[in-house]
Amino acid sequence: MALIRLDKCLADRTPHSRSDVKRLLREGAVLVDGVPVRDGSLRIDPDVQTVTCRGTALRSDAHVYFIVNKPLGYVCATEDRQHPVVTALIPEAQRVRGLFPAGRLDADSTGMVLLTEDGDLAHRLLAPKRHVPKYYLLRLARPYEPDYARRAAAGLTLSDGTVCRPAELSPIEAEDRYALICLHEGRYHQVRRMMAAMGNHVEMLHRVGIGGLLLPVSIKAGGFLELFHKDVENLLNPEPFSSVYERIVNNFPSYLINEGQ
Ligand code: URA
Repeated sequence: MALIRLDKCLADRTPHSRSDVKRLLREGAVLVDGVPVRDGSLRIDPDVQTVTCRGTALRSDAHVYFIVNKPLGYVCATEDRQHPVVTALIPEAQRVRGLFPAGRLDADSTGMVLLTEDGDLAHRLLAPKRHVPKYYLLRLARPYEPDYARRAAAGLTLSDGTVCRPAELSPIEAEDRYALICLHEGRYHQVRRMMAAMGNHVEMLHRVGIGGLLLPVSIKAGGFLELFHKDVENLLNPEPFSSVYERIVNNFPSYLINEGQ
């Protein structure tokens, strides 16, 4: 890796602003390979050298990725005057600058949101041409009708005339009001509007997967997980709907713990 300025490295890989970084350097709070360094213009290789700031080692990878289990009421934004934001679910010490939610989930939906400062990955995940699948568990107000899957697969027409891309939809066995849906695009309130187009109403919507990565049931509402690079690659390598369905059904009751949160 090319050598980069110590002050830039600190500003990129810690929550501190550039002026905080200057102060921390002046105070001798920054060590490179155990030695205090006060000169921010020093060029270092963060992959080879160990940099600590107030005793905490800087991450060595260039990008960070978290998944959070968004609770009800949180918005997918970095700042909001009225609602709590998803980035606040990451503890301050790990909240690197530039962290943003890659994609949206409504305030009244819950579940998996990816947070990163890697604009390239976010772009690849969200690019309409890629159609990276997103999986949602939903609870309906009225029982699931047998023709829903066929209608969703044919491409539903929403009330404003928008024609949706074909989507996979399947009821959760032995449950007449729960289903799993897989979308290959991300329109405003899409799942809710698709179910409304079929005369039903979504009471609960929980995103359980993005691409080839499912939200682990161990992450409860408001919890988060930092991803390894291997997991990040999985995001862009989806599995067939049938195998995702099987994994979700096997864990189904655990996902319901999030309901109402
Ligand atoms: N579809 C919706 O209706 N809401 C979401 O948050 C995501 C997909």
